[in-house]
Amino acid sequence: MCGIVGYIGNKKACPILLAGLTRLEYRGYDSAGVSTIEKNGLSLMKNKGRVKNLYDLDGIDKLEGTIGIAHTRWATHGKPSNENSHPHQDNSKRISVVHNGIIENYSELRGLLESNGYHFYSQTDTEVIPNLIHYYFSKNTEDNSVMGFLRAVRDACLDLKGSFAIEVITDYFPDNMIVVRKDSPLVIGTCDDEKYISSDIPAILSFTRDFYLLNDFEFVLLSRTSARFFDSQLNEFQKNTDVIEWNSSAAEKDGFEDFMLKEIFEQPNAVRETIGSRISNNLTCDIDELNFSKEDLKKINKIYIIACGTAMHAGLSGKNAIEKLCRIPTEVDIASEFRYRDPIVDNNTLCIFISQSGETADTIAALKLAKSKGATTIAISNVIGSSITREADFTIYTHAGPEIAVASTKAYTSQVILINILAIYFAETLESASCEQLKDLKSEILSLPKKIEETLECKEQIFNFAKKVYQEKDMFFLGRGIDETVAKEGSLKLKEISYIHSESYAAGELKHGPIALIENGVTVVGIMTDEKLTPKTISNIQEVITRGAKTLIITNQVIDYNSFNEVIKIPNTSPFVSPILSVIPLQLLAYYISKEKGLDVDKPRNLAKSVTVE
Ligand code: M6R
Repeated sequence: MCGIVGYIGNKKACPILLAGLTRLEYRGYDSAGVSTIEKNGLSLMKNKGRVKNLYDLDGIDKLEGTIGIAHTRWATHGKPSNENSHPHQDNSKRISVVHNGIIENYSELRGLLESNGYHFYSQTDTEVIPNLIHYYFSKNTEDNSVMGFLRAVRDACLDLKGSFAIEVITDYFPDNMIVVRKDSPLVIGTCDDEKYISSDIPAILSFTRDFYLLNDFEFVLLSRTSARFFDSQLNEFQKNTDVIEWNSSAAEKDGFEDFMLKEIFEQPNAVRETIGSRISNNLTCDIDELNFSKEDLKKINKIYIIACGTAMHAGLSGKNAIEKLCRIPTEVDIASEFRYRDPIVDNNTLCIFISQSGETADTIAALKLAKSKGATTIAISNVIGSSITREADFTIYTHAGPEIAVASTKAYTSQVILINILAIYFAETLESASCEQLKDLKSEILSLPKKIEETLECKEQIFNFAKKVYQEKDMFFLGRGIDETVAKEGSLKLKEISYIHSESYAAGELKHGPIALIENGVTVVGIMTDEKLTPKTISNIQEVITRGAKTLIITNQVIDYNSFNEVIKIPNTSPFVSPILSVIPLQLLAYYISKEKGLDVDKPRNLAKSVTVE
């Protein structure tokens, strides 16, 4: 969850590191720090709070070093404080380390080091790492070369249980840096005589498009001009770079007040990119990344869609499409539940994992479990080379462009579209749905970018509604069928960025208990996009109106506007893909309420963009 940046080159490292941290702050923002290699040893500057506080630290502008590491923290072990901020150093202060992840056996390692005379100054798990490196390096008196130091880093890493992405610098070897990862993201951007290291591609995209995407336990010895790769036996091997197509402006705000608003408005294009050539103008459907035959698919008797948060909500629309078009029983599971509930999975099971970042710890663990039980696995991700894409048998990318705001918006709509295309691809292969039905759905999908643009025109109306309701304490989101899946997503968006408590319910379930919470003035948001279910939902909404609720309706149906306080009309489309349109007013509602409350929309409290810890 924390963000890591590193630089090794000929320019002053500190300004580059601080700029990188600012771009990475969405990964965590409890505290931040940098360490550089200066002429007189290692510098260390760190502070509780946001990255911008670092600029005020005495002497930070005097740092001249051209090699450095930096970190922005999302606290796990130890509360946010100066001592617990990264980088951490060994007792001799000759080794600095930043770390993303969790060291599960840190107290055992701390005990071992303490019994060897080491002291600890923070409550973090990370502080064991530089000391453990020092312990191994000083033990091996025969080899005090940089390879000896690399060996010490390797030995220390082999002792660590849990997940880590680490950067190590030392003034023993002032022209080098060592980086390594296990179950936590880390990439190296390379250009001429410079190397940029980061936990996320967008933070360093303005410097290079050529990246080394690291696998677990690949130890990298960096100098200004080279990146040398070693496996855990320290055998050297060659690694090729991947070219990342995202352009750097995609990771900037581009005139928008916040990343979230920018990303909401990027949805027409993001969805266009996701569709790409997967559905052509003559309505053929193909997914190049997959090669399932009819026989392969016929063997599949159960599908799980596994994800967390918003990605899981996208999975719910996948269940709707797959069950209706392919008639294969499909369950949607929260990754953190799936991994511990001994799911019934065998080699006739297909497991689809959805993750924008591709780095969500629970989703990765669930994927490994499904594979170990013999399932065929497909990853749906937005980030090229991310962990789930490397684990899964097949990967399909959403191509939505970098999503920076913690609250996911364009990733959700891209996931919904992609999983519908996947359902069409399966249905065509299996011949399980009529050509006419699939043709209609495909042409609906092609018309969506334009319809998203039309839907975004509700911006003003939602802004005005938000002004009326931003001080409320509770809200309810109701829908039936596909609309219930959007109710869940609308409710999550509101909670995470506006801190208003909200609940989402299947509209018909309300009278079985939650209706007791409806009282005068409470806001109820109703979503109605399915012709067959709309009259039923209207009856349920009437029940809350009778009890004093104020209502906001999102619909593409013909209804009596006068019965409700506010109605947002969205373009008509097939219920299969209606979440892509009906979610937009809800994203905007959460956004404008958060703005009215004066909150930090892009960096809501307690959250981080990718949840790389369990
Ligand atoms: O990167 P992932 O898609 O795996 O992330 C899953 C969730 O953590 C994420 O969708 C989270 O719920 C968002 N903050 C919601 O806006």
